[in-house]
Amino acid sequence: MLELQNISKSFGGLKATQNVSVNFPEGSLNAVIGPNGAGKTTLFNQITGRLTPDSGKVMFDGQNLVGRSSLSVTRAGVVRAFQVAALFPTLTVRESLAAAVTSRRKGSWEMFGRFPSLTAEKRAEEIAEMLGMEDRLHVVSKELSHGDQKLLDIGLALALDPKVLLMDEPTAGMGPDERWRMIDKVHALWKSQNLTIVFIEHDMDIVFKIAQTIHVLCYGALLASGTADEIRANQEVIDAYLGSDHHTVRDGKEVRA
Ligand SMILES: Nc1ncnc2c1ncn2[C@@H]1O[C@H](COP(=O)(O)OP(=O)(O)O)[C@@H](O)[C@H]1O
Ligand SMILES: [Mg+2]
Repeated sequence: MLELQNISKSFGGLKATQNVSVNFPEGSLNAVIGPNGAGKTTLFNQITGRLTPDSGKVMFDGQNLVGRSSLSVTRAGVVRAFQVAALFPTLTVRESLAAAVTSRRKGSWEMFGRFPSLTAEKRAEEIAEMLGMEDRLHVVSKELSHGDQKLLDIGLALALDPKVLLMDEPTAGMGPDERWRMIDKVHALWKSQNLTIVFIEHDMDIVFKIAQTIHVLCYGALLASGTADEIRANQEVIDAYLGSDHHTVRDGKEVRA
């Protein structure tokens, strides 16, 4: 359903992604991994319309998304979690989610200055429940813990009715316990919501535990795609990334010696 065909993007002389072809089947749970600077975020930016590939196609439900605006891509159903802890810092969880639901329904990004309808609030409550945040609906976003703010970012994406949900390092900056709580929720969401999920993640324990398919980027090129067992056993991946004394994860951040 979402298929990248020979996507390339250079910044000056730097080939940030080179001829990357990946298929994300409907309903699949995918991880994208690779060292810092491998081109993972650049790949997402080309899917969401933030960047236009120099060449290649982003096929989604039979249409090429290349050249469309971010808004148009979102409306088509490919949505990225916001990555802004507490997008509406002074609104409560309920108000934030309801505003996003309303903006989606109006087909507009203008999320301010509207009174969410009752039904938007109902949908907001459903989303909070999906994320296990129903007891925090009344909490002002900026007062939430870091982990809950990241969950709310995912909730805001869900409010836009995605078919494909993209998450760039959803567990960044979290301690181990918080990270697992987050990822368990993402996994439960995937199981219950018929979503296609693609997430970028440095924590290999998480990736190997939950991803159906893992795609490895290295210097902008796709090194391998496969199951956890296949990726663990892939010598090229071991040499380039997993090896490795030069790659560890500490506090959710990749540390290179
Ligand atoms: N807008 C940009 N302009 C110039 N160089 C960029 C830009 N975005 C990313 N890069 C470079 O492209 C490479 C890939 O970056 P990125 O996709 O952020 O990697 P990753 O997410 O895998 O860490 C890096 O060398 C980065 O510095
Ligand atoms: Mg990145």
